[in-house]
Amino acid sequence: MQLHEPAIITIFGALGDLSKRKLLPALFNLWHEKMLPEQFYILGLGRGSTLDGFVEYARASLNEFSRRGVPTEEEWTQFSAHLRYLDGSFEDPTLHAAISTETSELMKGTSVPWVRMFYLSTPPSLIEVIAQQLHAAGLSGPKDRLVIEKPFGRDLESATKLNTSLLNYFDEDRIYRIDHYLGKETVQNILAFRFANAMYEPIWKRGYIDHVQITVSEEVGVETRGKFYESAGALRDMIQNHLLQLLCMVAMEPPISLDADEVRNKKVDVLKALRPIPPDELYRFVVRGQYGPGYVKGQVVRGYRQEDNVDPNSSTETFVALKLYVDNWRWQDVPFYLRTGKRMAAKASKISIQFRPVPHQMFPEKTSDHWEPNRLTINIQPEEGITVRIQAKQPGQKMKLRTVNMDFDYDLSFTAEPPEAYETLLYDVLEADGTLFMRSDQEHYAWSVVTPILEAWENSPSQDFPNYAAGSWGPEAAEALIARDGRSWHAIPVILPPAT
Ligand code: BG6
Repeated sequence: MQLHEPAIITIFGALGDLSKRKLLPALFNLWHEKMLPEQFYILGLGRGSTLDGFVEYARASLNEFSRRGVPTEEEWTQFSAHLRYLDGSFEDPTLHAAISTETSELMKGTSVPWVRMFYLSTPPSLIEVIAQQLHAAGLSGPKDRLVIEKPFGRDLESATKLNTSLLNYFDEDRIYRIDHYLGKETVQNILAFRFANAMYEPIWKRGYIDHVQITVSEEVGVETRGKFYESAGALRDMIQNHLLQLLCMVAMEPPISLDADEVRNKKVDVLKALRPIPPDELYRFVVRGQYGPGYVKGQVVRGYRQEDNVDPNSSTETFVALKLYVDNWRWQDVPFYLRTGKRMAAKASKISIQFRPVPHQMFPEKTSDHWEPNRLTINIQPEEGITVRIQAKQPGQKMKLRTVNMDFDYDLSFTAEPPEAYETLLYDVLEADGTLFMRSDQEHYAWSVVTPILEAWENSPSQDFPNYAAGSWGPEAAEALIARDGRSWHAIPVILPPAT
């Protein structure tokens, strides 16, 4: 599905980490699969480099991060002919004037209109001024699209202010707010699973579902992002966006069509229905944690407070567990337990839907040593797939039951390698499809849920940090949060590297 409208993809921060790890490899792969239009340019913007410097940077990026491995000489020669570069300060009007001149030059001689994408891979503090300068330079016309990386604001107030300001320069339908989880294949598959199959939808509700768990655990710490993370924390970095979006995918009502606004309206309905957490009962619903030193996969790792560019007395949370309710007919009183953290025992993003036990137990207790109600697990990563846990009769003369899994495994079912999330998202921007992007009202309601928690935490910094060891499953209080309801976090296998 090659795009037809010619395009210029301008990256603010082309010499940055996101550009290197994700954007340039994604653009290369789209080009490789003949999905980019025949006429396209990638205009890199950075500080203190040259076109040659950018070209070298792009080559190193592809060599290291492209999912296809190192490009051949021929591929590289063809692809690199599309690269352009401008150097300057992103706030400086002269840079924006130069972008205008350069893009006009590139578009010369074609009668069809060009799409101009401006990808802001920059610190959040620059978003507003860049949008304003683009507008002033005449770069916010009907074919111009602004792409913004998260975080979109720091809380409800700043997000609202930022949004109001951006709408002075770009219309809502030309602003693409990225939440890269929405570009993941397995996350999009939740829509297919729920709404292209009739089987589960009739029981996808409170009468049959006991609770839902969403875990996004990471083995990595903050790596080189200490400075950013100190001002963010897990609630802003992961819950406000990725985990709440996963919750929306599970809890939303069936959309009437795949129309971008229709899908997003249904998600907004979920966010609006989230029951506010009473500030004086925060401890019953939310747990925060920070990792101390420990072992991850057998390797000694330092604690958060010892990481580079982190305050040795930091009160920033690297772990959050949270219980939410969706107040509507479908989900009333069904708890949604969310947890995410850095430096945990294993990397996993999973959603598990725990069904209720059968209404009447006709099998005597002795037929099943370990009776477990049905559970459906959506594995977002790694080992993508869906597993349904069922009870089955063990072979033999006697009626004896055992828990077994029915598995759908992506790798086994599909041979084609799935695109990376950023490939999907960049393609969608060029195609002007906003389905997988955050609309301003989604941001608004997501911030409405987390801002009271942020405020309460700011007013009372935690006294017990660090409260979990690197390589564990988080603080004990997270176990207690769910145990108080008579439930427990579903185990996630930890696969240790082979002994050397
Ligand atoms: C980003 C967060 O949005 O998502 C990072 O800023 C986090 O802190 C990352 O590591 C996780 O993404 P993924 O795709 O590796 O699960």
